[in-house]
Amino acid sequence: MLKFFFFNAVHLSGTKYGCGVGGCGACTVMISTYDPVTKQIQHRPANSCLFPICSLHGAAVTTVEEVGSIKPRIHTIQERLAKCNGSQCGFCTPGKVMSIYALLRNHAEPSMEKIIAALDGRFQTVNCKKYNKGINIHSGLCNTEEFPPVDPTQEFIFPPELIVGLIDFLIGAACCLAQLRDILMKAVPKLAEEKTKIYQAFLQHLRTLAGEQMRSMAVCIQHRNIEMFLSCSTFDYRLNRLQFSPTDGKRQILLNDQFLAGCEHADLKAKEVIVSVLIPYSMKDDFISAFRQAESQKNALSIVNSGMRILFSPGTDTIVDLSILYGGIGSTILSARKSCEKLIGRQWNDQMLNEACRLVLEEIFLPPSALGRKVEYRRTLLVSFLFRFYLEVLHGLNQMVRTGQELCAELSQEKMSALGMLQSGIAQGVQIYQLSQTIHTPGQPPQDPVGRPIMHQSGIKHTTGEEVYIDDIRPVDGELSLALVTNIKAHTKIMSINASEALQVPGVVDVVTARDVPGENGKDEQAYAEDKVVCVGQIICAVVAVKIVYEDLEPILTIEVTICLLFNNRFRILELEYLLDHRREDKEMDVYVSTQHATDVQEFVASALNLQYNKIMCHMKCVGGAFGGKITKPLLFAVIAAVAANKTGHAVCFALERNMDMLITGRWHPFFGKYKVGFMNDGRIRAADFQCYINGGCTKDEFESVILDIENSYLKVQGHACKTNLPSNTAFRGFEFPQAGLFVETCIVAVATQTDLPHEKVREINMYKRVNLTSFKEKFDAENLWKCWEECLDKPDYYSKKKGIAIIPMKFSVGFNATYFHQVTSSNQSLVHIYIDGSVLVTHGGIELGQGIHTKMSHRELKIPLSYIHLCETSTTTVTSGKYTAGSTGTEINARAVQDVCQILWKHLDPIQRDNPNGKWEDWVNLSLCFLLLNYDKPTSDTEKGHAFPYFRFGVSCSENIGTDIVMDACFTINPAIDIGQIEGAFIQGVGLYTLEEIFFSPEGEQLTLGPDTYKIPAICDIPEQFCVYLLPNSCNSIAIYSSKGVGEARFFLGSSVFFAIQDAVAAARKERGLPMDFTPNSPLTVERICMACDDVFTEMVRLFSSLL
Ligand code: FES
Repeated sequence: MLKFFFFNAVHLSGTKYGCGVGGCGACTVMISTYDPVTKQIQHRPANSCLFPICSLHGAAVTTVEEVGSIKPRIHTIQERLAKCNGSQCGFCTPGKVMSIYALLRNHAEPSMEKIIAALDGRFQTVNCKKYNKGINIHSGLCNTEEFPPVDPTQEFIFPPELIVGLIDFLIGAACCLAQLRDILMKAVPKLAEEKTKIYQAFLQHLRTLAGEQMRSMAVCIQHRNIEMFLSCSTFDYRLNRLQFSPTDGKRQILLNDQFLAGCEHADLKAKEVIVSVLIPYSMKDDFISAFRQAESQKNALSIVNSGMRILFSPGTDTIVDLSILYGGIGSTILSARKSCEKLIGRQWNDQMLNEACRLVLEEIFLPPSALGRKVEYRRTLLVSFLFRFYLEVLHGLNQMVRTGQELCAELSQEKMSALGMLQSGIAQGVQIYQLSQTIHTPGQPPQDPVGRPIMHQSGIKHTTGEEVYIDDIRPVDGELSLALVTNIKAHTKIMSINASEALQVPGVVDVVTARDVPGENGKDEQAYAEDKVVCVGQIICAVVAVKIVYEDLEPILTIEVTICLLFNNRFRILELEYLLDHRREDKEMDVYVSTQHATDVQEFVASALNLQYNKIMCHMKCVGGAFGGKITKPLLFAVIAAVAANKTGHAVCFALERNMDMLITGRWHPFFGKYKVGFMNDGRIRAADFQCYINGGCTKDEFESVILDIENSYLKVQGHACKTNLPSNTAFRGFEFPQAGLFVETCIVAVATQTDLPHEKVREINMYKRVNLTSFKEKFDAENLWKCWEECLDKPDYYSKKKGIAIIPMKFSVGFNATYFHQVTSSNQSLVHIYIDGSVLVTHGGIELGQGIHTKMSHRELKIPLSYIHLCETSTTTVTSGKYTAGSTGTEINARAVQDVCQILWKHLDPIQRDNPNGKWEDWVNLSLCFLLLNYDKPTSDTEKGHAFPYFRFGVSCSENIGTDIVMDACFTINPAIDIGQIEGAFIQGVGLYTLEEIFFSPEGEQLTLGPDTYKIPAICDIPEQFCVYLLPNSCNSIAIYSSKGVGEARFFLGSSVFFAIQDAVAAARKERGLPMDFTPNSPLTVERICMACDDVFTEMVRLFSSLL
């Protein structure tokens, strides 16, 4: 594939590799070709991870390096994106740049729709903070005086030798979907409307089918099992013809259900290739529609898709011909041919619809055990699509005035509402914060960065692809690659491992198992399985295929058979888990690993190899996404690679493919909750008993504070950790607070429903007020929580909205309830060198995860411009006992340590400055200085006395159908540009958790969702149309540095306001139908769950029909 060609053959590392299956867009490049028909050069974005080099004949490829680099110049796209804080960890940013670059090469002034479409095909790194920015920056909304316009004369020139005529085609089999769309868009306005119905249906379908990169690569006649082909072919199967070119001439074949079913006479023969496809004009009495329903709005495979066509007898509503086809139901497209035949001759009315639904449900049978799950939902979609088609046709007939006679009565307003297109508007963001000099520090010197929206330190390198992630490090001499052999059964005993077969495979050097670990084989979790294997995906040995003989034991997979509230999600971290171990002399070992805790890596590797810590050098420059998911798991990977490097004597490099990453590294903690609650008529909760069950997987993992956090802004709790035979989980975003918070808010909704009170009233009456004690007796002041609440209630004119709206408060603890994690001495947490030329090198224990920790570390204490300061990698060679960069404490802990160092340095410089007050910094610094620190002041928390956390963060979000308002108490933000980005990103990430991200296991404990095709995270199109973030003004925090508050995972929970807004809308729909209101939707509230919770006529029809079978 092209991506690997870049790295291995031409040594270009700007193009990143995130998923390998076309799902994330990190690997986007621009492919340029000459179109011999239009005689124009076309530029399209494409996923290089899927692009075979052999398909590039006649094409030119542009990578991010060609677009711009720090030397000699960056492109204006890159400059805008960086300076407007449009990146976070930066891993996917080169792909984003290439998507926009390709767009601008085709359209110098693209519309907003085109910009959104260009970014649709990409997932942002979860928590990628600048969802809004990505759009606004490229749309030219930034100050155009500040940035130069795109200069087309400086762009790469298409190689003239590639401008040659290719083949003559009708719609060529190699015509990609994006090309086809462009052709149709040009053709449709020039044709009579009645001829274009099929093309319009096609264009409508292409709007949401895959992303632009995929549409630029995929051809419509690709393969019968690919959805694009299924969708295209269902428009009008009788009329489409494929032209085959066998060795002895050409033939045409109807693209009908027989072809789709693979009938021999209607299929390709050996040595035949598809040359073109003919999609003829529609006819006057034709109606053609296409439908698809996917997990998410864009860039997702459909759950069910369908194409329907009807032909009426001229001037009547009598059916002459009807075709109904469905994809996503079986292994190929299914035709409701018999149903259609029975409906011929019928008139297009309600009776016909009822009959049609019954016939289709009978014919397109989906047994409860059908593959692909969601059986009832899929059956509901069969008839829902049919109903929609029925209305579309009815409306069309009504519009057709033939010989002065209308064929159908006008549709009621209610039915017309069902025909509305779900069009997302253009997302707009508002960010409001106080600038530092207007509040705490009047007269702040211009070089002091604190409180100012400074650009991310690596922003430019993110956009040019020059930021070096572990994946980008060039191989060293003799480096070996490592692959893992994982367990394939949920609970087994290893009887033997026979590596002999694997060792005979050419190139295999060794097989490494637990026996090769000289010291400790991991701690709570074994690095290499030793005896019993307790989940699918557990690592047994490293290198290649070995024979493993198992003895089956009984697995435990679930925490409850019947659940009322279940999370079953897994995070996505864009950069894959990478690790490079490099041996040096004297038993030293360099370890380069994508981790949130370098010190733990050092400790684990040293223990595994029976070495002192001083022999292990762990290095971490920057991580491509982490968010809590790279705290503990990389420790095991480090041990695995280190043991292999130790055994073989070679450097060892290993990276997990996306599916292995999802299999091994765990996910969100599935959460099951039960509650009993006693309340008064006014909604006041008097007694509550919450029982929480966390699926803790097979080993001790990272859940810790759910019991303390579950109270959110209210009250009390008992927690249970359940050991199961599933992989253990991670602390991704907020440990388990998002799950626990949703659970408790669900209880509040239930109380509101029972008392028939507005939800916000029940929340208000139960929220903490003034200075109060938490349920675990920690004193805190709820004043800022109430300020956020009242401010947010005011924003969207809350009280004017009747349904589909929710406002959610949040009280979230910072850090950990083990004070060890907040304690550092400056001497082991930071090191500041002042060089003789006055430049300053800062290193500290925090890891740059994209959250801008290095940028925030640019301290005011030395009173010098930022340009004097450089921050380099985090390493155990400079910081001896760093802490986790997690729990939103990274900046606070490390900034305080750096501050202490700088203050000590300044004390030493002070007498020199006083002696020479007119001198400059360079004059005072004529020695290289390096000082040890004094003790860092511990935070005021004291677990034993009931202070589990140093302080709390407050925030409120309000969501309704088109917008979200967030009011956050961030106190005095060190860098508002970065902090607001964190809030926006975490919120969207929360929306993913609560509405999209769902993971499935087989009954045998095998994970079924292992990649972006089955596991969806939010994309650009999921941003609220109006997204406003306000930072609470005039707020202070005496505990943290510069009176700031840690930002990060806290805002994640606020995404639940979307969950509750949807729940509110569903409740309104149920109320209209007179259904009971005491329903409890599980999270994530996916399209399937929303549909089933609405319990409409179609779900009822499907259930009734199923009960009669
Ligand atoms: S790496 Fe190519 S799309 Fe994700």
